[in-house]
Amino acid sequence: MHFRTLVSLSTVSLSIFAAKVGGVPNSSESSVDWDVYPWMAPGPNDLRSPCPGLNALANHGFLPRDGRGLNGPVILDASQKVFNIQPEVLTLPTKLGLLTSDDPVSFTLDDLKLHGTIEHDTSLSRQDLALGDNLHFNEEIFSTLANANPGESFYDVNSAGEVMYQRLQQDIVANPNITNTVKEALLRSADSALYLSVMGDPSTGKAPKKFVQILFREERLPVAEGWQRSSIPLDGKTFNSLINSIMEASNWTTSGGCPWVRLGPEQPVSIV
Ligand code: HEM
Ligand SMILES: *[C@@H]1O[C@H](CO)[C@@H](O)[C@H](O)[C@H]1NC(C)=O
Ligand SMILES: *[C@@H]1O[C@H](CO)[C@@H](O)[C@H](O)[C@H]1NC(C)=O
Ligand SMILES: *[C@@H]1O[C@H](CO)[C@@H](O)[C@H](O)[C@H]1NC(C)=O
Ligand SMILES: [Mg+2]
Repeated sequence: MHFRTLVSLSTVSLSIFAAKVGGVPNSSESSVDWDVYPWMAPGPNDLRSPCPGLNALANHGFLPRDGRGLNGPVILDASQKVFNIQPEVLTLPTKLGLLTSDDPVSFTLDDLKLHGTIEHDTSLSRQDLALGDNLHFNEEIFSTLANANPGESFYDVNSAGEVMYQRLQQDIVANPNITNTVKEALLRSADSALYLSVMGDPSTGKAPKKFVQILFREERLPVAEGWQRSSIPLDGKTFNSLINSIMEASNWTTSGGCPWVRLGPEQPVSIV
């Protein structure tokens, strides 16, 4: 990642999330046999991550249920099959995922909690590391998103931006050491774009609340409730457009500091 692209909040910087904008043709159609991929709670030796999307994929067996042996192709294939996410969208996070591990070719779901590589402060459903558990779902933190967009049955880019804004105001008070640079703002906008896209419509960014809440709370795909894989692919162009809209709606301001990507478990979490 070029740090220079992170420091300026231009449209160009937002495109860091998709190496190739424009996309791969939507060729792969999903025909998941859900009897083969039942939701099962992780066992005591299974590893999970701070990411509700990857955890749900593992809980259904689209990723190894033990949460081990992950790499780019494994995650990109599962994401396309289940969510119709084009590989270009998740190539960068899977590469960053490798930085969280001492193994040069694979990582576990648990590795992904490494603070400062992908994992960041001011999450939607997890505590800041400085304040506690940055790995497991936390209902109190999630309540901001759960209660967003009152009176409607869906979340959208505006409600997602508002939630980002509210979470940031809370966290500025709660965590005097908050890390809130443009890097975190972009990752947080991408997180929001992902829950809207996979549980809803990637072109409009509208997603039923019920589906989003099941994804976060149960790390389950709400098939029984009527959720279906989007027939519209999430590609780089769509993803960047959602990220832009969410970022704009969030009225984001920095808390200072320099954007920094932690390069490995033994590497510093910041440059100061
Ligand atoms: C498969 C599609 C994916 C979906 C639907 C998804 C969704 C999400 C969402 C909604 C969050 C925010 C959680 C929160 O704020 O509490 C998140 C966080 C995270 N995701 Fe994913 N994600 C996906 C793929 C990935 C990939 C490919 C990686 C890396 C290999 C990844 C790693 C992470 C990490 C480390 C976090 C924690 C960030 C934080 O909140 O501190 N995710 N993801
Ligand atoms: C913030 O960082 C300072 C200096 O590293 C440390 O002494 C303090 O305990 C931290 N506070 C919190 C709430 O993490
Ligand atoms: C962002 O700022 C605009 C213009 O001041 C305001 O209308 C909007 O409500 C703000 N949104 C949030 C989430 O604070
Ligand atoms: C993608 O595939 C679905 C069928 O699963 C189809 O309905 C949709 O029109 C296709 N989209 C494009 C852009 O080809
Ligand atoms: Mg976090």
